[in-house]
Amino acid sequence: MIKLSKLASAVAIVLAGNVAMAGEVEVLHWWTSGGEAKSVGELKKIMQGKGHTWKDFAVAGGGGDNAMTVLKSRVVAGNPPAAAQIKGPGIQEWASEGVLANLDATAKVEKWDELLPKVVADVMKYKGNYVAAPVNVHRVNWMWANAAVLKKAGVAGAPKTWDEFFAAAEKVKKAGLIPVAHGGQNWQDFTTFEDVVLGVGGAKFYQDALVKLDQAALTSATMTKSLETFRKIKSYTDPASPGRDWNLATAMVIQEKAAFQFMGDWAKGEFTAAGKVPGKDYICAAAPGTANAYTFNVDSFAMFKLKDAAAQKAQADLAAAIMGTEFQEVFNLNKGSIPVRLNMSMAKFDDCAKLSTKDFVDTAKTGGLLPSIAHGMAVMPAAEGAIKDAVSQFWNNDKMSVADGVKSIAKAAATR
Ligand code: BGC
Repeated sequence: MIKLSKLASAVAIVLAGNVAMAGEVEVLHWWTSGGEAKSVGELKKIMQGKGHTWKDFAVAGGGGDNAMTVLKSRVVAGNPPAAAQIKGPGIQEWASEGVLANLDATAKVEKWDELLPKVVADVMKYKGNYVAAPVNVHRVNWMWANAAVLKKAGVAGAPKTWDEFFAAAEKVKKAGLIPVAHGGQNWQDFTTFEDVVLGVGGAKFYQDALVKLDQAALTSATMTKSLETFRKIKSYTDPASPGRDWNLATAMVIQEKAAFQFMGDWAKGEFTAAGKVPGKDYICAAAPGTANAYTFNVDSFAMFKLKDAAAQKAQADLAAAIMGTEFQEVFNLNKGSIPVRLNMSMAKFDDCAKLSTKDFVDTAKTGGLLPSIAHGMAVMPAAEGAIKDAVSQFWNNDKMSVADGVKSIAKAAATR
C-alpha cells in the first residue's frame, strides 16, 4: 500500500511537471488551400504530440499580404502570436523592431549552423542570432501542365522557349480549352512576371533588374521585351481570372479545363492532394527559358518575444520541430517543396522534387540561384509592394503602353 501511494505521488509530480511545461503556440500563417492546410496540419500534430496546444491563426490569402497586415496590427497592440510566417528580408525588418525572440539556444542544441545552407542560415539571423526557423525551399519558376490537355491539343511535351510556349498556347486555344490558368492577385501576376524576366533576360538580367533594382536594367530593351511577352501571355488567360485564387487556377489545370499555370511548387501540393501523379497526369517543367536557373522561396517562421515560461518552452519546441527530420519530410511531401535541412533522404519524394533538389545544387554553382522577388526573398517589403502594384497595373490595363509600363515599374523600384 505504502509503495503504491508513493508511486502515485511520484506519477502526480511527473504529470504536474509535464502540464506546467506544456504551453500554447499561436501560429500565424496563410496556408489555407487544400495542400497547404494538410501540410500545416502535420506541424500541428507534432506539436500536439509533444503535449502543447496549437492555436491556429490562419489568414487566408495566397502570397501572405493579408497575413502581414493582420500581424502588424497584433504586434502594434502588444499581443503578438508565438510564431508567424515571415520570410526573407522581412525577417530583418521585424527583428530591427526588437520584437523577435532569440532562438540561439535551440539552434545550438539542434546544430542548425551545420544543417542549413549558409545562404539560408544568414537570412534566419539578425545580428548573428537566429530569430526564425526555416521550413522548406520552394522553387518558383515552374510551369505546370495537364498531360491530357496537351495531348488533346496536339502539343508534344512542355515548351522550352517562349516561342514554343506561344505556339503551344495557340494550339490549346484552337482545341477550345484555356491555355493559361491565372488568378487575380498582384502576387500571382508578379510570379508570372518574374518568370518572364528570367526567361527573356537570363539570370544576370534578373539579378540586375529585380534584385539590385538597377535603373539601367529596368529601363532597358530587355525589359521592354519582357513586358511585351508578359502582355502576350495575358491574351491566353480566360476573362474570369480577375479575383480568382491561385489554387482555383491550379484546379483548372487539374480538371483538364486549362493547359498551363505559372506557379511555384506549392501548386504541386494541390495536384498531390487531388491524387494526381507527375509525369502521368501532369508535367512539371521550368518556365520557358529558365531551365538553368532557380528562383527560390524559403518559408520560415519568425518567433516573437513572449513572457510566459510555458509558452516560451512551446515556442522552442516548435522551432526544434520545424527543423527536425520528421517534419521536414512529411511537411514537404505534402507542400510540394523540398526540405531546407541538408542531407535529407529524398527517397519518398517524386521526380519534380528530385529535379528541384538537383537544380538547387547545380544553380548555386553557376550563379543561376536567385531570390524570388514576388515571394519576399529579394528586396525590402516596401519596394516589393510598390513594384508588385506597378506590374499588376500594367497587367490589368491593356491600354497602358509598354513604354509607360516600363517607366512605371522602374519608378516603383526606386521606392525605399
Ligand atoms: C508561400 C507558400 C504559399 C504560397 C501561396 C507563398 O508566398 O511561400 O508557402 O503556399 O505563397 O499561398
